[in-house]
Amino acid sequence: MDYLKTQGIKSLHGTIKISGAKNASLPLIAMTILAKNSVSIKNLPNVADIKTLLKLLSNLGAKCEFLQDSVTVDTSTLSETKATYDIVKTMRASILVLGPILARFGHCEVSLPGGCAIGQRPIDLHLKALEMMGAVIKIKAGYVQATAPNGLKGCNINFDKITVTGTANIVMAAALAHGVTTITNAAREPEVVQLCEILNENGVHIDGVGTAVLTVQGTNQKLINIKEFSVIPDRIEAGTYLCAGAITKSELTLENVNAKHLGAVIAKLEEMGSTFTITPDTITIHPSQVIKPVKIITQEYPAFPTDMQAQFLALATQADGTSIIEERLFENRFMHVSELQRMGADISLNGNVATVNGKNKLSGTDVMATDLRASSALVLAALVAEGETNIHRIYHLDRGYDSLEQKLQGVGAKITRLKE
Ligand code: EPZ
Repeated sequence: MDYLKTQGIKSLHGTIKISGAKNASLPLIAMTILAKNSVSIKNLPNVADIKTLLKLLSNLGAKCEFLQDSVTVDTSTLSETKATYDIVKTMRASILVLGPILARFGHCEVSLPGGCAIGQRPIDLHLKALEMMGAVIKIKAGYVQATAPNGLKGCNINFDKITVTGTANIVMAAALAHGVTTITNAAREPEVVQLCEILNENGVHIDGVGTAVLTVQGTNQKLINIKEFSVIPDRIEAGTYLCAGAITKSELTLENVNAKHLGAVIAKLEEMGSTFTITPDTITIHPSQVIKPVKIITQEYPAFPTDMQAQFLALATQADGTSIIEERLFENRFMHVSELQRMGADISLNGNVATVNGKNKLSGTDVMATDLRASSALVLAALVAEGETNIHRIYHLDRGYDSLEQKLQGVGAKITRLKE
């Protein structure tokens, strides 16, 4: 297994190019199941989760071709409709194939994703919505067995909770359904917005894009032609590097980024003392020399994203004063805390609220990544810790960060990938 050896440094300097968004790419790859043509996707990030989903589609019979700066996915040869445990267990977002496969073929079997490090993460809302659209859903031997022999029917769906992949799954199912589907309490994340925009541009009429109420006019199981498109920038990768600038008090410029997707993150960094220069596709952070403490509550977009909670917790260890960080989406998303405490962070946990008594002097040591965003929090802490930090189990990091160590080396960080 690989690990990252990192030296605490004084500051970074330069420019980082942001990759395409992992959480936009996954539903957009699943969306190719709705197409009759071979779909060309540009700006996919080079991360493990994308490879996993493309492998799943290939296992089902689709043809995936990797070109210089794009991937083409041809699902016209798709013949299998069972997503097996061996793949789904490595990436729960495989559940995103359920809606489109069921809508297109009238049957689909997907292994239950099971829980994951950050929480139980059920898919009850996905299944309940598909049942409302006429699917018969059975759970058998750890698999979801879904059938809808006459296709899915449009209906009014009201999500009890806002679910990002749940919304994406049902939008894709509704795209091929008979009639109109209204989804109330829909997720408004930019990744869901891009999925709706691409479908709108390619023959599936969707109203309310970007709002909590989506209305999808189904094509009555007619497949669509999807023109080439490019994935939006990864706002969580970008937010992570902004935190790198803030925690090391370095001026960094991010390129290929959309600041509009980072409103809550930039606002919190401003509260902590940073200022910004923003253009349509760049963000430059001008960090403060004194980091102010902050109060954060994670909620659905456009509020502060749960996927940035771990990174801000690491940053808060360098703030002068007490920060309070409340995690409202997942029941177990503080596993980075114990690793940060081992580096010298003064953090106390009370249920889903972390209290960080900064400013802490962090010392380098061996630490273990536990999940994707926890890994990036450990990298941020390692950048300012005294001495050397070795971050183990970085396969978690590789799921969602494209070339992280190269991007940080490019701005002066002392970080190298080694083999255990
Ligand atoms: C997406 O996960 C993201 N993943 C997650 O990013 C992100 O943390 C999460 O949304 C919240 O923003 C992808 O987009 C691939 P949810 P998702 O369904 O869709 C509960 C990362 O770091 N819920 O919005 O699985 C659920 O337990 C990853 O890139 C149900 O109860 O999250 C959670 O408490 C981590 N029943 C809340 O809703 C359901 O059927 C939000 O979950 C579905 C969800």
